[in-house]
Amino acid sequence: MQNNTIQLNTPFRLNAHVCIKNRLFKSAMSEQLATEQHDPTLGLVTLYRTWAAGGIGLCMTGNIMVDRDALGEPKNVVLDEQSNLELFKRWAEAGTENNTQCWAQLNHPGKQIPNFITKEPVAPSAIALENGLEKGFNVPRALDEQEIWEIIGKFANSALLAKKAGFTGVQIHAAHGYLVSQFLSPRHNRRDDQWGGSLENRMRFVLNVYHAIRAKVGTQFPVAIKLNSADFMKDGFSEEDSMQVVSALSDAGIDLIEVSGGTYESPSMMGHKTSTKTREAYFLDYADKLRATTNTPLVVTGGFRSAKGMAEALNSHATDLVGLARPLAVDPDLPNKLMADNQYKMVLRHLTTGFKTIDKMAMLNITWYEHQLERIAKNKAPKANLSEWLSFAKTIYAAGRYAFRSRRA
Ligand SMILES: Cc1cc2nc3c(=O)[nH]c(=O)nc-3n(C[C@H](O)[C@H](O)[C@H](O)COP(=O)(O)O)c2cc1C
Repeated sequence: MQNNTIQLNTPFRLNAHVCIKNRLFKSAMSEQLATEQHDPTLGLVTLYRTWAAGGIGLCMTGNIMVDRDALGEPKNVVLDEQSNLELFKRWAEAGTENNTQCWAQLNHPGKQIPNFITKEPVAPSAIALENGLEKGFNVPRALDEQEIWEIIGKFANSALLAKKAGFTGVQIHAAHGYLVSQFLSPRHNRRDDQWGGSLENRMRFVLNVYHAIRAKVGTQFPVAIKLNSADFMKDGFSEEDSMQVVSALSDAGIDLIEVSGGTYESPSMMGHKTSTKTREAYFLDYADKLRATTNTPLVVTGGFRSAKGMAEALNSHATDLVGLARPLAVDPDLPNKLMADNQYKMVLRHLTTGFKTIDKMAMLNITWYEHQLERIAKNKAPKANLSEWLSFAKTIYAAGRYAFRSRRA
């Protein structure tokens, strides 16, 4: 029988400079709550104040785009020289209330940009997305050397602005099939220059993004990464590749590694393929293997629902923090409840309109949760029984026909 010496409310010392007040980590959820100029709205401020009050230890923002010309979704936040930094300051201030760490997730979507947003997305190589995504996403153009360095500079620039705004750390989004992940994947990166081919070349982009950020934010500011355990696609980024990338990033000094998996083509992060049958989180078996090879702090995200499952994962030492996304959209006070009752369990109901095609077309697994975020942003309580049909109708109303083009896995 396992001795649970680590509790959910046990603080975690990340390094000499940062201590996280408990083991609960809010994973990024793209909020779709930006202004037309792609600045944070006051609704976003309310949402993060609510999460901070709910007891979360480390709260990751939804993905913030580093390049204004490369949005993954229509209402993404962008952080660059044109941004209104005062609004970002209010957002960071709310997110760090109650001694909460609030970090900014930085992303570039690469070719995972729907074609109603951009006709010609960029990527490491001109290779189309498959698995039914051909209609919604155009074939990308391969980046040239100068453009690659420009994007690396944009990541670093956004990180510095995030620090100036008052976020207490940043995370590079290198998972889920976006640009950094495209560079890592032999399926998507077929370049024959220094950025492609061998794993050493494929990881050059992420390592340069990391070093460029570090050079701007200094050694004491936390820099994390969200990385796929694998892409779960033929000829894609494998577990073996991922372990070597973790090793290189650990050597380079990354502060925290969040483990996820999958891409738009194969959305394993939402649990459609799991790496384990016996534990409630999807990527714990992979994290066990990682733990044997690195001392860098780890957070596993995907599938955690019960205080018991979370405590078991922490005490197995597979992970240092517990990543939670969808449960926090339905109950922002969940961290306080989990820490108060070690039998607490959240049940998320299976979302369906009864018609699989509509569920897929409406991306219920994303849009239904976005509607909960929108409610919290308006100071309303989330609605666990929000009807799938109502969510579907709201999606049509908000975005018309574009709503039914593939957006995100
Ligand atoms: C509405 C929504 C938006 C998401 N946006 C992001 C994002 O911006 N960045 C990211 O890394 N993951 C994003 N994810 C994935 C989550 O961070 C997480 O990996 C996934 O939901 C599995 O965790 P869960 O089972 O706790 O929900 C999103 C998920 C949802 C439901």
